[in-house]
Amino acid sequence: RTGAAPRITVIGLGYLGATHAAAMAELGFEVLGLDVVPEKMRKLEQGSAPMFEPGLEELLRAHVAGVEGSTGRLRFTDSWEELGAFGDVHFLCVNTPQKHGEYAADMSYVDAAVASLAPHLDRPALVVGKSTVPVGSAARIAERLAELAPAGRDAELAWNPEFLRESFAVQDTLHPDRIVVGVAGPRGEELLREVYAQPIAEGSPFLVTDYPTAELVKVSANSFLATKISFINAMAEVCEAADGDVMKLAEAIGYDDRIGRKFLRAGIGFGGGCLPKDIRAFMARAGELGASEALTFLREVDSINMRRRAQMVELTRDAVGGTLLGKRVAVLGATFKPDSDDVRDSPALNVAGQLHLQGAQVTVYDPKGMANARALFPTLGYADTALDAVRGADVVLHLTEWKEFKELDPAVLGEVATTRHLLDGRNTLDPQLWRKAGWTFRALGRPTA
Ligand code: UGA
Repeated sequence: RTGAAPRITVIGLGYLGATHAAAMAELGFEVLGLDVVPEKMRKLEQGSAPMFEPGLEELLRAHVAGVEGSTGRLRFTDSWEELGAFGDVHFLCVNTPQKHGEYAADMSYVDAAVASLAPHLDRPALVVGKSTVPVGSAARIAERLAELAPAGRDAELAWNPEFLRESFAVQDTLHPDRIVVGVAGPRGEELLREVYAQPIAEGSPFLVTDYPTAELVKVSANSFLATKISFINAMAEVCEAADGDVMKLAEAIGYDDRIGRKFLRAGIGFGGGCLPKDIRAFMARAGELGASEALTFLREVDSINMRRRAQMVELTRDAVGGTLLGKRVAVLGATFKPDSDDVRDSPALNVAGQLHLQGAQVTVYDPKGMANARALFPTLGYADTALDAVRGADVVLHLTEWKEFKELDPAVLGEVATTRHLLDGRNTLDPQLWRKAGWTFRALGRPTA
């Protein structure tokens, strides 16, 4: 390189990579993206987002080459050779899902990406891992790069975990609350300071660590978040036994700065493509390292989380008189959280699926997640609107806290439901409002009336 801005590639264009690629273009870099799923790239090439993520499509349209009026800084290719020739900094953003039938992370996509890219690295380049991986992976990948790349040790590796939240991905990527980079030499730090110059100038802390610490920061942050949610859900269980109110309890403890108010919303628990699989992969890796005892509490975090889903099924059964067989259940929400179309390990869909398996007639409505939900659970019933889902229902379940559901009129829904039973699995609806309109309202961790 000769002092020009580093050219960037992004490998893997899912929730993380598509957002990262668009954000890098927004920061002014020339970016080339690659994904092994051709349909994803065709969508991106037209400036449309392969998933629903607020603000992403605007960013893509502003930068994807060929879109009218764009900067043209963001392009896509299916050629590894072109990718290798183009890039100074290569971001690895492929997914590391849970292995089938095991707790461990599936590293095959990461390993395949490294194997495809490395032979084309014939000049100094920095490969930057962003995927969430078991600790120790970076050191192993650095060795593989040195072995497979014609540039040898000049094909360097840095580990730069990503902390973005889905539904806030664009904002979190452009304005990260911290940037963590694990490096083995000074060049990685230097280049990444250049790439992240703008967020650093705006005040994002920049932390330089070794590889294992950077890998561990990511999984420990997600473990802490999962623990916080399961803690409050454990309190919800006790509240249910003692007729207390977990919402008041969370508010009261949250005023203590050391505890904080965020991530203390009790309900049917955490889901998505990250928290559940990350805590499991972390436990599996700690086991391999002979440190499993340090993380036995995460097993408890996981089981508290799964129990909340089961409790929701129990409450539903109670509400319809003890048996689910043939009962009509309206499910509001399918995604694992609002403002996303992601249904991976969604608590809402999991509850809907359990009810269906126990003989209930389940009708699901979600503002953005219908296509993904249908693909995953084709046997459930689906309705085009919340009102249609509720029509004829013996009980209504609120399982993902979309704003749209908060704005529903209980009186209008009451007219089309067979029985006015509302179960709030997310603790965001106003019990008084529903009770006033004649509904029996129950929520996890809260008094029955
Ligand atoms: C999570 C982390 O928050 C991000 O920092 C991280 O980068 C990301 O995983 C990742 O590893 O890629 P995300 O999966 O997008 O982000 O979703 P969260 O906002 O963390 O929510 C996770 C789940 O917890 C959702 O199902 C949500 O409904 C649930 N939740 C959240 C609660 O049940 N209660 C709360 O108080 C907060």
